[in-house]
Amino acid sequence: MLNFAMQIAREAGTVLVQRLGAAKITNKGDIDLVTEADLASESLIIERIRSYYPQHGILAEESGEAVLIDGKRSDWKWIIDPLDGTTNYAHGYPCFCVSIALEHLGVLEIGVIYDPVRDEMFAAERGKGATLNSRTIRVSEIDELNSAMVCTGFPYNVRERPDFARDFANFTMSAQAVRRDGSAALDLAYVACGRFDGFWEDGLNPWDTAAGVLLIQEARGKVTNFDNEPLDIYTAKVLATNGLIHDAMRSVLLHGPNSRL
Ligand code: IPD
Ligand code: CA
Ligand code: CA
Repeated sequence: MLNFAMQIAREAGTVLVQRLGAAKITNKGDIDLVTEADLASESLIIERIRSYYPQHGILAEESGEAVLIDGKRSDWKWIIDPLDGTTNYAHGYPCFCVSIALEHLGVLEIGVIYDPVRDEMFAAERGKGATLNSRTIRVSEIDELNSAMVCTGFPYNVRERPDFARDFANFTMSAQAVRRDGSAALDLAYVACGRFDGFWEDGLNPWDTAAGVLLIQEARGKVTNFDNEPLDIYTAKVLATNGLIHDAMRSVLLHGPNSRL
């Protein structure tokens, strides 16, 4: 199933690249977009899953949840973001990906994030480690927030939430560098492979996080909510790190810059 997930992520990524710069864009909300490419990528992924695993449930960003098969709840659920980084995509900013995860009885078993621009395939299977283009990846070894590059994202209700600007400013005062790349799934993949040392966001959905969470766990990092409890991907607050700067990042979120828990 991991190979299947990688194959459909690659095919969907090709659809995204083919339509880059040409896809029609519509607004779902004030600043929340959807493009023809999101929809084409999602249709392709769902079609493949339906033909190979017709008994499996699906949770996909653009078409919602279909977990009942013949009136019964499936033990399996594919969790799909067909294009993570839609705003980047709509502006031709080459930072976006396809994210596909598979849950079995509520446990994440497979996670795949594919960046078609760099041809980077991040993949993880529970208990079998995480890879980038088939090479094993691990989180970084940076153990001081002062030396860390951290990343965040802003959900689409950012204009009603001044705390995002506050947290961004607080991390700017505490970390070596802060980035806001616009693709939560890629941000999580970058924590898994050590490019980022930590990531936080409040306002994510399971399709943004499912694959990335498994990647980080399998790369020996740590993913929790802001209360340090193991992450439930159906909740919005995500703190994902190499484990070594986890407390320091929590402390900034709870108490402000240069604080200690
Ligand atoms: C968004 C991106 C962004 C994050 C938002 C997500 P989308 O997903 O991951 O980085 O800050 O919260 O909704 O809409 O591009 O799939
Ligand atoms: Ca997303
Ligand atoms: Ca999306």
